[in-house]
This record gives sequence, C-alpha cells and structure tokens, in this order.
Amino acid sequence: MPVSQSDVRLTSHLGDDYLSQALENDVRAGLSSDPKWLPPKWFYDETGSELFSQITRLPEYYPTRRELSILRRHSTDIAADSGADTLVELGSGTSEKTVLLLDALASVGRLRAYTPVDVDAVTLRDAARRLAARYPGTEVHAVCADFERHLALLPKRGRRMVAFLGGTIGNLDPEARAVFLKELRDTLSPGDSFLLGADLVKDTGRLVAAYDDAAGVTAAFNRNVLHVINHRLEADFDPDAFEHVALYDERNDWIEMRLRASRAMTVRIVALDLSVSFEEGEETRTEISAKFRPEGLNGELVAAGFTPGQTYTDPTGDFTLVLAHA
Ligand code: SAH
Ligand code: AVI
Repeated sequence: MPVSQSDVRLTSHLGDDYLSQALENDVRAGLSSDPKWLPPKWFYDETGSELFSQITRLPEYYPTRRELSILRRHSTDIAADSGADTLVELGSGTSEKTVLLLDALASVGRLRAYTPVDVDAVTLRDAARRLAARYPGTEVHAVCADFERHLALLPKRGRRMVAFLGGTIGNLDPEARAVFLKELRDTLSPGDSFLLGADLVKDTGRLVAAYDDAAGVTAAFNRNVLHVINHRLEADFDPDAFEHVALYDERNDWIEMRLRASRAMTVRIVALDLSVSFEEGEETRTEISAKFRPEGLNGELVAAGFTPGQTYTDPTGDFTLVLAHA
C-alpha cells in the first residue's frame, strides 16, 4: 500500500508477514543444510545497515571510496550517456554516493524521479526523506522490496537508469546473478539503462583485509545476522560464541564470510520449532562477495540481453562501473 509522508512516497512489498515467512524459509533451509548457510540479505536490519556504513569508512574497505572517486569523475558523462530522467536504485542503503548521480541529472534539468529500493525499511525511509528535501520538485518514491523477488513490481514510468552500486551484485551467487540480470533486463524498455558497480579481482591480501578489518566492525556485521534471527524468530543464538571468518576462494574469485562455532552447541529457534546443533569448529557461510574481471562482467550482461556500453574504472583498477543499455 503506498503511503505519502511529507513529499516522499513509500511503498512496501515486505510486510511483517512476508518478511517473517521469507526469513523463516531461508533460515530453515540454510541451517538444515550441510554445510550450513544463511543469505546475506538478513544482515540488514537498522543495526546491520549502520554497521555497513561504518565498514564503508574503514581504512581496509576500499570499494566505497573507489566507486565514489569514479562517480566524482564521471557522473556527468554517465547522466548524459543514459539520457535518463528517472533513477531507480537497487540496494540503495543510505544513498550517499547516489547524490553524485542525482546532482548530475539535476544539473541538466532532467531529474524527474528517484526510486530507492531496499530491504531495510528504516534506512530506506530516512534516505528518501533526506533526498526529497535536497531535490525539491523531484518525485521520491521509496520502495521496500527484495530485488531478488520484486523487480517486476517496481515503478515503470520515465526513462530509467537502474543503478546497482557498491558491488552488491557480487553478493549473489553465479546462478542467482544470472536470474537477477535476466529478470532486470525483462523489466526494462528500449532507452532504459543499467549502471552496475562491481569490485574487481585483485591482490588476495588486500581483499581479505577488506573483509576482516582490525577494528572488528566486519565481524560485528557478520554476527548481526544471528541477532536478527534471535529477534525475529525467537532464537537463542549466543553471537559471541561464533568467530568471524573471511577467506578468499581463488577458484571462484570470491570472498566468503563464515561464522565458526567456537564450541559445540544446540540453538533453539522457537518460531520454527527447530533445534539446530553446531559442532565445535563448524562453519556457516553467511556471504559471498564475488570479484570480477571486466570481460566476465560484460559477458554476464550480454548473456542477460544487455548491451554493455562505457566502462569506468578507477585509476588503481580496483573497482568498475559499467553503463549497459536495454
Ligand atoms: N548501495 C549502497 C549500499 C550497499 S549495502 C552502497 O553502495 O554503499 C547493500 C544494500 O542492499 C543494503 O542497504 C541492504 O539492505 C540492501 N539489500 C541487500 N539484499 C537486498 C535484497 N535482496 N533486496 C533489496 N535490498 C537488499
Ligand atoms: C554490500 N556488499 C557489496 C558488501 C560487500 O563488500 O560484499 C557487504 C559487505 N560484507 C562485508 N563487508 C561488506
């Protein structure tokens, strides 16, 4: 149901029932598997989003700074090249980097609408209000939705550029990525475009450090998924009994984050009427963060029916943005 609050329109496809059901399904499936896994989308309640914001400012975590530097340099070109009057942003979070794109669209008088899309309703609403105040006259329509499920429900008006920044594409495994890209392509019309941010393959030491920072913020972010499950599904995880693990899988070109049980334990999840046993040292995979090679990324876009256009890579070769056309 759309709800108007000041000059922001909010639509949610993630009601409490939907969220609980989706979390229940994922937790039951993931924790009944061998090896166990949990999907990364459940990191992001209000605390998880705040921890992610802290991660973006860590000295070891280069992707945000690199992407920001590309946007500082090339937002005007990207805005012109896209021809867009409407920006849709998937996994928008705090929308901090987005202002560069919005400013570029606004400066040529072409910013009609902005639609941030995120699973975290609180962070989404705050960002939408902030941006509505910054761009009076622009329609800000925030949509709380899962980009793996609700792409077909996103607003279709205007000439759209869909932005998917931060390298979040890498948090989908290769099969999920192919499905996502195809579904996204199917929702776009001729003239629409897709701006994709992706982290590039690089030195393993730097990659691992970016996901295992000295201050322990990424460890807290990783454990937050257990707090979310405790809170939403009445579980009794002791998050401190799980160690943060970050490793680079060179065969698959991805970082894996895991939570390692530091002792044997049984966790009760009341809402699922489920007890889950962990052996000492047992690891649960909580996230992959794939790193790309430019030719592989373009190949995935082409396979989904996009025409990759201009590529913008930062001078250190750490991070890339591709503007692909529908
Ligand atoms: N785009 C921002 C934030 C990246 S963090 C940046 O580049 O800094 C990833 C964001 O995607 C979080 O805000 C998280 O809540 C959101 N997210 C993760 N999985 C999602 C999903 N399946 N559907 C919608 N949003 C999702
Ligand atoms: C949101 N996403 C792109 C981040 C990443 O780098 O994969 C999430 C993250 N996980 C640990 N640190 C940051």
